[in-house]
Amino acid sequence: MCGIVGYIGKAPAPRVLINGLKRLEYRGYDSAGLAVIEDGKIIVSKAPGKVASLNEKARSEWPAERFANCLSGIAHTRWATHGPPTEVNAHPHLDESGEIALVHNGIIENYRPLRARLEGTGHHFYSETDTEVLSHLIGERYKGDLFQAVCDALHQVEGTFGIAVVCAREPGKIITARRGSPIVIGVGDGETIVASDASAIISHTRQVIYLEDNDIAIVTADNVEIRDLDRIPVTREVAELGFDAEAAEKGGFEHFMLKEIHEQPDALRNAIRGRLDFNLGSSVLSGMGTSARDLAEISRVVMVGCGTSLHAGLVGEYAFEDLADVHAEVQQAAEFRYRNPLITRSDLVVAISQSGETADTLAAVREANQKGAFVMGLCNVVGSTIARETGRGVYLHAGPEISVASTKAFTCQVAVLLMMAVKLGRGRRFSRDEGIRLAREIESLPELVEKTVRQSDKIAGVAQRYAQNEHAFFIGRGYLYPVALEGALKLKEISYIHAEGYHAAELKHGPIALLEEGTPVVALAIDIAGKDKTLGNVEECRARGARILGVVTEGDEEAAAFMDDVIEVPRCHPLVATIPTAVALQLLSYHIARHRGCDIDQPRNLAKSVTVE
Ligand code: F6R
Repeated sequence: MCGIVGYIGKAPAPRVLINGLKRLEYRGYDSAGLAVIEDGKIIVSKAPGKVASLNEKARSEWPAERFANCLSGIAHTRWATHGPPTEVNAHPHLDESGEIALVHNGIIENYRPLRARLEGTGHHFYSETDTEVLSHLIGERYKGDLFQAVCDALHQVEGTFGIAVVCAREPGKIITARRGSPIVIGVGDGETIVASDASAIISHTRQVIYLEDNDIAIVTADNVEIRDLDRIPVTREVAELGFDAEAAEKGGFEHFMLKEIHEQPDALRNAIRGRLDFNLGSSVLSGMGTSARDLAEISRVVMVGCGTSLHAGLVGEYAFEDLADVHAEVQQAAEFRYRNPLITRSDLVVAISQSGETADTLAAVREANQKGAFVMGLCNVVGSTIARETGRGVYLHAGPEISVASTKAFTCQVAVLLMMAVKLGRGRRFSRDEGIRLAREIESLPELVEKTVRQSDKIAGVAQRYAQNEHAFFIGRGYLYPVALEGALKLKEISYIHAEGYHAAELKHGPIALLEEGTPVVALAIDIAGKDKTLGNVEECRARGARILGVVTEGDEEAAAFMDDVIEVPRCHPLVATIPTAVALQLLSYHIARHRGCDIDQPRNLAKSVTVE
């Protein structure tokens, strides 16, 4: 949510900054801006809309030769929180003197009283943002030492921040700091890049430093010095990024979402690799950091997450109870710390988050830690805040997910939750032989998904028949109920069709009133337990004129006969059926959105990682 880049080195900064912003654009794309230092002055360029608009503007304002010697600067792509996405609200924001520029990700919660005080002392504000207060505070404190001024200013603010600051009088440095919003520093050869995530850094260097909360760094082209906000030096390790630049490219696909859907067989292979134990009939998830005794003591699994990650947790709920006889529940992360979650030391709390940065999920982690639960992360982004704060967990290894709509992270989250349920179940419920059978089912996932992805063209044909509708319902039961929720979320977020997911039995308790002649109902009627009952619910919808698109098991003519259109998925065990079914729905949403001409990778109003509550 909001992307930050800062660069200092040997290349022309505007070019590096814009390229970095393009990589970070999925974090927010309401407006963008950059600031560089030229001849002792800060020069700013901003534009509403996407990074492409800023690029166009910067090119016309700033001929390349002029900036060949301009070797440092900061830039930002915004997801609006305070104030609409106008040019004036775009970052960077300047202090009163115009000599200090700042980009910020996060929220300054006490900005109103601070702004009132500053206005009272003659400061002029131009934007409606919370951020502008911080640049003025830094300016107010500036006495020739930018680092000192930023420390002082940060002591006055409440809320969250990931910032990068430059000062015309100290052109050779960038000051960057974080609390609650990520900052990664790329350490290159004679160049240093500051960014809110590694995708903006990978084309320069693989050596990175992750700042911790309340760290503040003085960054020059050849050095990174990190202190805490009281200026005490701290040491942070240099880590090596585990992916390469191509992983963050479209690789010939029209959209990142389509690429990521197609990557799922490999992503699942990576998520599963080395984690299934065919001797013991169990799984090996060493990152969980549990001994056999710890596992035996777990009396409940509580999963927390948001959006798609929440839906993965709902699948996990079924799996833990089915396979491990352990009470399991999923809680919406945003609610977790505002109710009184009854958490004990025998609870395993699993924080599910692709980005590992979602503010609500992170807050839930902190609450669970405080209550003494055994907390672990299930994240995709290595080194992310949730991964680090939980201290133990299982990485998805799905590779970078750039499309705002999550696809491969969801299927890998489900695969890892299934392996966790097998691990817990092996000690409690089922035999070695049963464990081996279950492990084989999980092992078959990449192939099942490969077969499903091959249906893409067929699904595109079906999608065309539904692309003009403005409403849709998704129904399923059992393991397929969370998939119905996820299918509806995917459709609404990328195609802007109003879509609702319901338990198949729940429709008749109210929502069925909305069905009219031709209203699409996507019925998940895979040949697993509950199918017959779902087919009964399909009949109820048909009787009210709904048009039924069934997702059915390949060759299941009985189920197909109930439907107006069908999408087939390969026959599979109930335990793993969620994954190919979800993939079929991802393709359906993708193709519907494409027929509607939507901006698939960057749907309106959204951002990839939601670092505000
Ligand atoms: C939907 C989507 C979001 C995220 C949610 C949580 O396609 O991507 O609903 O799942 O914002 O994000 P993470 O998993 O990064 O915590």
